[in-house]
Amino acid sequence: NQANRLKGKKVLITAGPTREKIDPVRFISNHSSGKMGYALAEEAKRQGADVVLVSGPVQLQAPSGVDIVKVESAEEMYKAVLSHFDGADLVIKTAAVADYRPKITHEHKVKKQAEDMTIELERTKDILYELGQRKKKQLLVGFAAETNNVEAYARKKLFAKNADMIVANNVMADGAGFDTDTNIVTLFKRDGTMTELPLMSKTAVAEKIIEESTVLIKEMNKD
Ligand code: PMT
Repeated sequence: NQANRLKGKKVLITAGPTREKIDPVRFISNHSSGKMGYALAEEAKRQGADVVLVSGPVQLQAPSGVDIVKVESAEEMYKAVLSHFDGADLVIKTAAVADYRPKITHEHKVKKQAEDMTIELERTKDILYELGQRKKKQLLVGFAAETNNVEAYARKKLFAKNADMIVANNVMADGAGFDTDTNIVTLFKRDGTMTELPLMSKTAVAEKIIEESTVLIKEMNKD
């Protein structure tokens, strides 16, 4: 296990879910625990990087020596990520960002009615896409959480978002995805190669992702 692969590099990582408020007591969210993103932050730190971790609401302690920026909504995450993007060398987007939010956030608790209710949703900003448009020297790593057609969707995301690598997980597989201590991922790169990893701890998956990223950073800096 080599150390200091990322010495002198700035790494920006997102983790956890976002919360999109319906009213002061209710929100739309997902099952992300932050474990995958926090493991990545810890490994990047271990490799000597300056790490900024933009995190949605989770129950985890920030790894020591990592700068943590706590956010709630997709919009807050967007702003925090963009404000740290320019100086970054490596950006890893592990967060499970809501694609939709309630069009209206009610100021007071919505009262129960006799009839059914419809909540109108609007799109949030696609942060990964935005970064793909703006990137200059940054190596951009996205995730893909899929329940079917993992390979096809992951390859599509790689190019649609202008990412350098996509880490795909089938979140339906046992031991993979949300709120587990392990994950099963496949890494997709722009040269068309894919690396299928077996079931591993999220710590081991993080080590592998950081290792692959450092190789890509080296290649990028060659030309
Ligand atoms: O947190 P854990 O419990 O450890 O679980 C880990 C995980 C399952 C959350 C993680 O491994 C994972 O798959 N993260 C990505 C979840 C996700 O939102 O995937 P997606 O396929 O919907 O999004 C694709 C990519 O676009 C992701 O890098 C995501 O951060 C990004 N995105 C999505 C929507 C949006 N509005 N902005 C984004 O930047």
